[in-house]
Amino acid sequence: MTAAIQADGLRKSFKGVDVLRGVTFAVDSGSIFALLGSNGAGKTTTIRILATLLRPDSGTARVNGHDVQAEPALARASFSLTGQFAAVDEVLTGRENLALVARLRHVADPAATAAALLERFSLVDAADRRVGTYSGGMRRRLDIAMSLIGDPPVIFLDEPTTGLDPEARLEVWDAVRGLAARGTTVLLTTQYLDEAEQLADRIAILHEGRILVDGTLADLRAVLPPAEVTYVEKQPTLEDVFLTLVGTRKEAS
Ligand SMILES: Nc1ncnc2c1ncn2[C@@H]1O[C@H](COP(=O)(O)OP(=O)(O)O)[C@@H](O)[C@H]1O
Ligand SMILES: [Mg+2]
Repeated sequence: MTAAIQADGLRKSFKGVDVLRGVTFAVDSGSIFALLGSNGAGKTTTIRILATLLRPDSGTARVNGHDVQAEPALARASFSLTGQFAAVDEVLTGRENLALVARLRHVADPAATAAALLERFSLVDAADRRVGTYSGGMRRRLDIAMSLIGDPPVIFLDEPTTGLDPEARLEVWDAVRGLAARGTTVLLTTQYLDEAEQLADRIAILHEGRILVDGTLADLRAVLPPAEVTYVEKQPTLEDVFLTLVGTRKEAS
């Protein structure tokens, strides 16, 4: 299995504060990898280094085989980055936003590209409305759709669902699963345990600039001793109740 993203011993400090203290991980091609950590853990710093926006003090990183420091242009051609705050233009419609980016990236048929992405991200009904009227989930989906123009093999999603309501999070999760199903490699950061658990093939826990553990959910569970078997009534979670009442989820089976 080839690694689509490889970080080796990344270190970075800002004004004498060590933010990354040797970060190493690899993301298999076509998989979803979650960098899980609290605020300030170093997630965005890691993404910015991988995205050639920031130089590490030491260590190396490759995206799609290209060294981000030695071959930044080739590395950049291999990924797209969607930040925590959607980079969409509020005054334009969804369709206009997509067509604009398609023209900027010299796509052969911007209108057809926009139409296909609107379809794929279930934005057809809202396509000709100003983005200013979109919900948070629609905006984030549009943002992800925009980042896919030009078909990059790798996508970085920095906290894709922070600030979204529960229904919008589910919509974004579906969109992210759809990316991986089509073979795009996804590196996402999150501060939500359930998001990592639901979406990721592999999870790395980043804490104070170091990866504490890295593996599948099963690998991570094996870190703790097996749970004692106890019998308790299973209570629905608040999420179950909320999503059932607002009609997004059917009664638990
Ligand atoms: N350009 C910068 N200058 C100074 N400190 C920074 C800079 N960028 C990030 N930091 C600090 O580095 C730490 C990690 O930040 P960040 O990577 O944004 O964390 P996360 O995305 O996990 O919340 C924080 O303490 C933050 O204040
Ligand atoms: Mg961040």
